[in-house]
Amino acid sequence: MERILIGVAWPYANGDLHLGHVAGSLLGPDILARFHRMQGNDVLMVSGSDEHGTPITVTAEEEGIDPQDVVDRYHEQHVETLDELGINFDMFTRTSTDHHRERVHEIFRGLDEQGFIETRGMRAPYDPKAKRFLPDRFVEGVCPHCESGDARGDQCDACGKMLDADELEDPRSTVNPEVDIEFRDTTHWFFKLSDFQDRLEDYVEDKDHWRANVRKFTENWLTEGLQDRAVTRDLTWGIPVPDDDPMWDDKRIYVWFEAVCGYLTASMYWAKQEADDPEAWRRFWEEGYDDVDTRSYYFLAKDNIPFHTIIWPSILMGYSDAREAEGKPRLNLPYDVPGNEYLNLSGEQFSKSRGVGIWAQDVLDEFETDAIRYYLAINMPETRDSDWTWEDFLAKVNNELVAAYGNFVHRTLSLVHEHFGQIPDPGDPRPADRQIVDELEATHEDVTKILEQARFKKPLREIMQLARAGNRYIDAQEPWTLADDDRDRAGQVLHHCARLCRGLAILTAPYLPHSAQRLWEALGQQGSVHEADWDDAPAELEPGSTIPEPEPLFDKLDEDEVMDLVATDEDETETEEDDEMTTISFEDFQDVDMRIGEVTSVEDHPDADRLYVVQVDLGTESRQLVAGLKDLVEPSTLEGLSVVVVANLEPATIRGVESQGMLLAAEADEDTVSPLTIVDELDAGAKVR
Ligand code: MF3
Ligand code: ZN
Repeated sequence: MERILIGVAWPYANGDLHLGHVAGSLLGPDILARFHRMQGNDVLMVSGSDEHGTPITVTAEEEGIDPQDVVDRYHEQHVETLDELGINFDMFTRTSTDHHRERVHEIFRGLDEQGFIETRGMRAPYDPKAKRFLPDRFVEGVCPHCESGDARGDQCDACGKMLDADELEDPRSTVNPEVDIEFRDTTHWFFKLSDFQDRLEDYVEDKDHWRANVRKFTENWLTEGLQDRAVTRDLTWGIPVPDDDPMWDDKRIYVWFEAVCGYLTASMYWAKQEADDPEAWRRFWEEGYDDVDTRSYYFLAKDNIPFHTIIWPSILMGYSDAREAEGKPRLNLPYDVPGNEYLNLSGEQFSKSRGVGIWAQDVLDEFETDAIRYYLAINMPETRDSDWTWEDFLAKVNNELVAAYGNFVHRTLSLVHEHFGQIPDPGDPRPADRQIVDELEATHEDVTKILEQARFKKPLREIMQLARAGNRYIDAQEPWTLADDDRDRAGQVLHHCARLCRGLAILTAPYLPHSAQRLWEALGQQGSVHEADWDDAPAELEPGSTIPEPEPLFDKLDEDEVMDLVATDEDETETEEDDEMTTISFEDFQDVDMRIGEVTSVEDHPDADRLYVVQVDLGTESRQLVAGLKDLVEPSTLEGLSVVVVANLEPATIRGVESQGMLLAAEADEDTVSPLTIVDELDAGAKVR
C-alpha cells in the first residue's frame, strides 16, 4: 500500500472555472487519484476556493457588493462545476473559513518563533486618488532588465525576472491609468526566504523526476538567489496579522502565503469533518508516519510553479523546525509538482480580462462529461501549450472516442446479446485470441507505468490503440459470419472481445468515470468499476453474465451543433498562422515507434497507379503497408531490404487496402525517392532511436 497526497491549485473565487483551469490543473489530479484508489492505495485529494486577494475586492467594488458575497457565489459555482465534471475531492474547502485562519496563524507564529519572519519598512506603490496602496500586480511599467513594456510590479513575464514595483520605469496603475502613482513608506512582515537557499538547493537536487519546465523554472530562481519577501499587504480583505498591535489593523496576510498553507489546513479540516478522526491528516503529512513515506503531488499551471517549489517548501521547512522544537515530527515536502503549460483557445491564451475563454459550465451544459474529459485529457498541455479548437474537439470525440472505442464496445455487446444472450465460454484460446489478451496485458502494464509518473496523455492514447486492436481482431475473426456455421468459435471470439471490454472499462475508469461505469454494468459486472482492482484489468472474464440489448456508450457529436458554437466563438478570436519551424519535445519524439522491418513481398495496389502493397516482417509480427513508391523504386530493390517503419501509426485504409504503419523514404523531389535503410545487418524489429 502506498500513501498519496494530492494537492490541487486553489482556483480563485473571482470568476467561473474555464476549460483552461480544467485542462491545466484540475483533471490530471482526478485521474491520478482514481488510478491510485483502484490500486488500493491510501489517497487524500484536497483543494478549495482561493478567496482572498485584491482582484476579489475589485470585483466587489464594481458590483457594489461585499467581497464575501463574491466569494460565496463563485465558491458555490466551483463546487457545482467540479461535481458535474466528476472531479472528486476528499475535501474542497475555502480560505475564508475560521479553521483555515486559525491554522494559518499557528503556522505563522511557528515561523516567527524560529526567526523566519521579521518586520521591515519598505516603499510601496500608492494611488493618491483612491487613497490606497496598489497591489503589485496592478502596477505595470517598463522592465528594467529587458525593457518589455508590460512588466508587472511583481514579475516580468517577458524575461521571467522577479521585480519590485519601485524598479519599474514609467509605472502606471492598471485600475486607474490616469492617476500618477506615488511610492509611500509602509511596514510589513517579511518572510526570510533567503534563509532557505541552501536547504532548498539540497531539496531540489534529487528531483530528477520533475518535469523539465518545473525543474528549470525552480533552478532559475535558485540561481538568481532567493530574496526575502513581504508577506503582508495594505488591505482589509484577507487573513488578519496575528499580532494585537493596532498598526496591523489595516493589513492582511498576503494571499499567496496563506493559500499555499491551505493544502495542510484543508487536510486537517478533512480529518475533522470527514474522517471522524481529527488526527487522520497526520498519516499524509508527518515524515515517516507508520514507516510509509507519503508521496505528495501538487497540480497546477505554470504560472504557479515557484509558489509550490520554493515558497511552500520553505514554509514547510520553517514550520517543521518549529514543530521539531516542540518534539513533533517534521512535515513532508512536495514529492512532485506536475506543472502544466497552458490550454489556449484557437491559439490565444485563456484570459478572463480579455474575454478569451470557454466556461466549463457552458460546455457541460451542451456535451457529455466524458467526451469533454476525453478531449481535455488527450489534449492536455503537459509539455507544451495545446489548443482547444471546436473542429478538433468534434474530430477527436467522433473519430477516436466514438468510432474506435465506443464502436468496439457496441459491436461486442450487440453481437453477444444477439447470438448468445450471455457472455460465452472462452474455450481453448487460439493464437489470435492469445494475441489480443497479450495486447491487453501489455497496455495495462504500460499505462500503469506512465500514470505512476503523473503523465496522462500517452496512456490514454495507448488505451485507444487497444480499442483499435479490438476492432481489428473482431474484423479479422468475423464472429457474425461464424455465428451460423461455427457457433463455438463465434462464442470464443466474442468472449475475448468481452474480456477486452472489461479491461477497457477498468483502464478508462480514471479518465472517463461515467462511461466506464456504464460499460461495467452493461457487461454484467457487480458493484462499481471504481472499486475494481486496477491490476485485474487483464484478468479472465467469468462467462455466463446476461447481456441485455446495449445502448451506445457515447453519442456521436452533431457537427452542426458544434459548428454553431464555433461561429459564436470565432467572432472573438482569430487564429494566427504559424510559419516558423516549431519544435517538439523529446518526449513527443519518443512517442513515435520506429522499427527495422524486412520487406517480404511487394505487390501493386489493385486500385491505384502509384501505390504498392508491401508486406514487412517486424520480427514479432508481419505488417501490411501501403507505400507510394511505384514507378519510383523497383520491387526487386525493395524485396529483402531492411527498411524503417513507423510501427505505431494509426492504421488507415488507403483506396480499400489497410495500411498498418508507414515505410519511411527520403524525397528529393516528386520523382526522386529513396527508401531509408541501415548500413549493418540487424534483426527485424530493431528499434530506431
Ligand atoms: N488561486 C491561484 C491561481 O488561480 C492558485 C493558488 S494555489 C494555492 O493562480 F495553493 F496557493 F492555493
Ligand atoms: Zn523583463
